[in-house]
Parts: sequence; structure tokens; C-alpha cells
Amino acid sequence: MSDRAAFIDVENLVKTFVDGDDRIAVLQGLTLSIARGEVLAIVGESGAGKSTLLHLLGGLDTPTSGSVRFEGRDITSLGTAELDLFRSEEVGFVFQFHHLMVEFTALENVAIGGMVAGAPRAAAEARARELLVNVGLEARLTHRPPKLSGGERQRVALARALVNDPRVVLADEPTGNLDRKTSEAVHDLIWDLRERLGQTFVIVTHNAGLAQRSDRTVELVDGRIAAAVSGAV
Ligand SMILES: Nc1ncnc2c1ncn2[C@@H]1O[C@H](COP(=O)(O)OP(=O)(O)O)[C@@H](O)[C@H]1O
Ligand SMILES: [Mg+2]
Repeated sequence: MSDRAAFIDVENLVKTFVDGDDRIAVLQGLTLSIARGEVLAIVGESGAGKSTLLHLLGGLDTPTSGSVRFEGRDITSLGTAELDLFRSEEVGFVFQFHHLMVEFTALENVAIGGMVAGAPRAAAEARARELLVNVGLEARLTHRPPKLSGGERQRVALARALVNDPRVVLADEPTGNLDRKTSEAVHDLIWDLRERLGQTFVIVTHNAGLAQRSDRTVELVDGRIAAAVSGAV
């Protein structure tokens, strides 16, 4: 297998939710390789299992069976403490709703992630400032989320996702809640970050424009990757 394919390797991933007597087979043997520096878009109908897949990729949940390997290291076999460390140091999450803490400023919201991972406050704040400048928010450092526009909040969320230099940013419908123009600005930012930082992104999206710009778009159907809508599988 080439080096590119070996960055993130998902093999035969199965996730079944058990709810009383109901068993919901969401992922049914999903296999997928993600290259370093790739922007991968995942599309699929509502309920197809896209969010479930992102949670498993980021160690927020564990699969029923199958593996998720980052450069050969299977995160599904990590213990709770190791998994916590993996999540905070190696993965950045962006959700549809920003999940920023309203009582904290933009700067604090970004810096907290660094502090949780063990960085001293001053270093975490310096890094947060740099990232917020990077996403064009140098004039909003001390604003709290209610005083920011929707697009600005998602830019803060992106900066927060990047604070620990993650290997991968997992974004679940990051522009699903934004108007077209604001969405495009956030998409521009994602591409800019990929160009400048070589950042790998896995993005679940319903946005055709974003999917079109990605290196590859794959569709989740019946618990598996059905086909590459664009790019190689
Ligand atoms: N914690 C859970 N318990 C039971 N069922 C769940 C849970 N999380 C998701 N599901 C079910 O799994 C299916 C896939 O959900 P999800 O991954 O959120 O889909 P998508 O993000 O593609 O819309 C849905 O039928 C959903 O109801
Ligand atoms: Mg979802």
C-alpha cells in the first residue's frame, strides 16, 4: 500500500446500535483510506451514518468491530486515557453548531483546547491569537460568541479545532447552518488552511459547492462507501 493510503485506514468498520430490542446496523463493513493533506467530502442521505463514521474516526465512540488506523496505530484498541489523549492532541472537531462556550471570549474558546492538552496559559493564548489572526478574526479576539456572526463563530470553531496541530480535522456539516455567502467564506478558509498548513480534512456535507471543491467525494450508502462521486475511491 502506498504511503498516502496509509495515513488513515478504516477497515471493515461495523457499528450497530442496540436500543432495547432494536438493533440498528449503521455501518456494515466500511472500508476507506484517507491520504495526508487530503480534503475528503462524505455525502449521503440523512441517517446514512455519516456522523457515526466521524465519531468513530475521532475516537468519540467505539465500533462494534473493525479498525481505524492512524499511520498503522489502531485507535479502536486504545484504553480510555489513551483515547482521551489521542482526541485532544491529534483530532480537531468542527460541528454544525459551533459549541463555543458563550461566557468565554473567542481567544479563550480557542486557547482552552491547548490548556486542556497541557499547554501553559500564555503559550495556549499566543497560539490561539495566531490562529484567530489566521482565520481573519484579529479584530474579534475579545468578543464573546453571542457578539459574533454565524460565519465568525464557525471560524472560531475552526481555529479551536486547529489549536493542537491535529493530524486531521473532522467536520460535521460545518456550513450546514450558514447562508451561501458565509458558507463560501468558510470553504475558502478550509482550502486556504489546507494550502498553507497541509491540513487533512474529512468533511461531512450537504453542500454541493464544498463537495465539488474537495479532492474526493465519497457517498455512504447501506453502511458502506458506495462509490467515489468524484476523485478516486
Ligand atoms: N447513540 C445512538 N443510539 C441509537 N441509534 C443511533 C445513535 N446514534 C445514531 N443512531 C442511529 O444511527 C443512524 C445513523 O445516524 P447518523 O450517523 O447520525 O446519520 P447521519 O449523520 O448520516 O445523518 C440513524 O438511524 C440514527 O438514528
Ligand atoms: Mg449527521
